[in-house]
Amino acid sequence: MEERLLAAVPPLLAWYRVCKRELPWRGETDFYRILVSEIMLQQTRVEAVKGYYTRFLEKFPTASTLAAASEEETLKAWEGLGYYSRARNLRRAAQVIAERGVPASYEEVRALPGVGDYTAGSLSSIALGLPCPAVDGNVLRVLSRLLADPDNTDDSATKKKFAAMLKRAYPPETADFCQALMELGALVCVPGGAPLCGGCPWETLCLAHLEGREENFPVRSEKRARKIVSLHVYVLRCGGKYALRRRGEGLLAGMWEFPNSEREQSFGQEAEQKRATHVFTHVEWRMTGHLVDVRARSPEYVWATTEEIRKNYAVPSAFKAFAEWLK
Ligand code: ADE
Repeated sequence: MEERLLAAVPPLLAWYRVCKRELPWRGETDFYRILVSEIMLQQTRVEAVKGYYTRFLEKFPTASTLAAASEEETLKAWEGLGYYSRARNLRRAAQVIAERGVPASYEEVRALPGVGDYTAGSLSSIALGLPCPAVDGNVLRVLSRLLADPDNTDDSATKKKFAAMLKRAYPPETADFCQALMELGALVCVPGGAPLCGGCPWETLCLAHLEGREENFPVRSEKRARKIVSLHVYVLRCGGKYALRRRGEGLLAGMWEFPNSEREQSFGQEAEQKRATHVFTHVEWRMTGHLVDVRARSPEYVWATTEEIRKNYAVPSAFKAFAEWLK
């Protein structure tokens, strides 16, 4: 089994050099800039990250500039990207780097706020040249197919097993190897029943493919159903200003939102109504939005103009359909 993995390294690297996508962080050597890319890429598609990455680094080009920024400014630059605790942790990580310098070992990288096993592996491989595997869902899928591995890939023991195998197979080109595994998962060995095996550097090595059983891998447990929450969202309008409030702990903590509740409320004359859905990892919001003209500005809320909201308040994209009402 490990011989198969060892044999798979050279064709993977050769394929990566020819077929890799040109991405703004590819070829980057500065630790902070690679950190920004890897944190943004957690749970987020490459296409969604590209623009944010460039804009974020224009605003905060070094660890010290981000370290000196306020949390509010950081969240604003992250607005729309989701999983906002990443932005808070990234700012704290920048503070650690600005104070103590760039980490030099896997353990120091892993100790940064917001950096788990996977990101510690990818940062160590990409920025520090260390043979430290980064095993996420893509890498699990690629390896479970290569080896036709029957273990459940939701199981953290399977992750550890693959990480240990990868560590022994690491070539000196650590940054390329780490990203080649991700790239194969993104471009060729895609999720679902029909990976693009014709273009795969492992076509003659992949056990799942040789056995014609690609669709049996990765082995996964049944997904838990998302909780469905029905929500009424109120865009309250009064003299060119709109009501916002700040979310507390939990989902979207600290972000700004339009007043909302599970039960319907009556604030006044409704100008418009529309429905929208937003899917989070564990919850799905089914929202009915109400645009309402109110007579007075309740002190319960912060009232801001469209311009002020655009500039200063980070409103998550879950509310995007209703933010369109702001003129
Ligand atoms: N996902 C996580 N890190 C990545 C990287 N460096 N390139 C492409 N996709 C990624």
